[in-house]
Amino acid sequence: MLLIHERNGRYTCQRGLLAVFVYVFVSTRVLNYLKFRLHIFHVKQFFHGYFRIHILFTSLLGLLLLSGCNLNSRMSTFKARGPVAEAQLDLFYITLWVVVGLFIAVGGVLLIAVIKFREKKGDTSPLPSHGHGNPLVEIGLIGGSVLLLVVIAVPTLRAIWFTHDLPIQPESELKAWYPGDDVAEGEESNILTVNVIGYQWWWAFEYPQLGITTANELIIPAGKAVKLNLRSVDVIHSFWLPQIAGKVDLIPGRANYMWIQAGDTFEKWAEKNVPEGSEAGQKLAYENYLEDEIHDYYYGQCAEFCGESHARMLFRASVVGDDEFGAWVSDIKTGNQAPEGMSWKDWYANYDKSPEVLTGDVHEGLKLFMGRAKCATCHAVNGNPRALGVAGPNLTHLARRYSLAAGWLNHRTEDGAVDIEQQYKNFVKWIDKTEEVKPGNLMWKANGGGIGELIDAEGELSLLTEEEVHKISIYLQTLK
Ligand code: CUA
Repeated sequence: MLLIHERNGRYTCQRGLLAVFVYVFVSTRVLNYLKFRLHIFHVKQFFHGYFRIHILFTSLLGLLLLSGCNLNSRMSTFKARGPVAEAQLDLFYITLWVVVGLFIAVGGVLLIAVIKFREKKGDTSPLPSHGHGNPLVEIGLIGGSVLLLVVIAVPTLRAIWFTHDLPIQPESELKAWYPGDDVAEGEESNILTVNVIGYQWWWAFEYPQLGITTANELIIPAGKAVKLNLRSVDVIHSFWLPQIAGKVDLIPGRANYMWIQAGDTFEKWAEKNVPEGSEAGQKLAYENYLEDEIHDYYYGQCAEFCGESHARMLFRASVVGDDEFGAWVSDIKTGNQAPEGMSWKDWYANYDKSPEVLTGDVHEGLKLFMGRAKCATCHAVNGNPRALGVAGPNLTHLARRYSLAAGWLNHRTEDGAVDIEQQYKNFVKWIDKTEEVKPGNLMWKANGGGIGELIDAEGELSLLTEEEVHKISIYLQTLK
């Protein structure tokens, strides 16, 4: 139980409820069958005992499984860390309290009626008369229901508009916070825009205003609104970053968008915290709030069934400071160097004329990457002039990412560093057993273009050897 819980609390929760439901359903069916088909209903003693065990077992099972429910997990919507997630959580609580009130009122009346008017031993009083049409009660109940619906509807509509309309916040405009000077013309007064593109089963994140692309690990600035254009190249996916915002679908042929924001803007924060002291002191306190509570690594997930590996279509979001964001953009633009400080020009001169001089695991890994393994057909690495594939994730600075295979294989230590050994194992596993890690993915089989379909000169199937997988992994680990 704890092990499953470690992996992901909310699944345990859902599975627990499902298990209880299935158990109750199946056992009731069996009971009915015994009763009516086998006519053993009269064996009263047996059923008396059975019911007791049944109720006890159901309760125990339910308790045990519900203990896996964790409201504080990394994908919990109860840990809202941004205005959109907060608006959604507030709405949840309003609805929850209304229905809890209803449940108590209706359940209470029922309970009182059952207890107070139940048949007692030696009770000879006549059955109460049936009544019809008490206008006061009927109108009162209708009025009450309408009132409750209004109580839910008003904040619901408000939240729908709030989460739909891009916020007008001068402090979120690129010119107000972005430290670089490479913003596309005319975009300085807009908020940061990311094109989120869903693929079976990974995510591309394009930053059109900055001219960069990354995959599966989104980087956004803290305290700023960000616009997400949601597009899909194949089937319907859904963007869900529980602690920050969710969920909006990525639908083929339809231009959906949403806005997200990690942490409050200064104004909103000041409203909540009623800060004291000078303006400089307040700004400092606000910066500390962003750094301590908002800068973090967030877990996301595709939330719409999109094929056999839907459950393995995860993503991450790193929320960082303005300067860190600017440095990241410039690093992505520069891209990765050829191995051992060589220029790409020199490396390719050797590769074309005398590849045998390029020895050692890193060079040989890159030769495989560009050659036999055909990685560059689908993957781009910025800097490398011949790795320009667009069918798969962009691999620039891949070794800096904390996960692989769209968040499915992780190598992030608890204090937020890359676990180098685990990273190596994950690379090997992903390249060697792609099909097992993510069934149905195109890196394995893509109509003759996958690494599960590599053929030799004679046309025989010739998968990568252990040695080759090792070399490619070693090369990929240099993409820092
Ligand atoms: Cu993409 Cu589910």
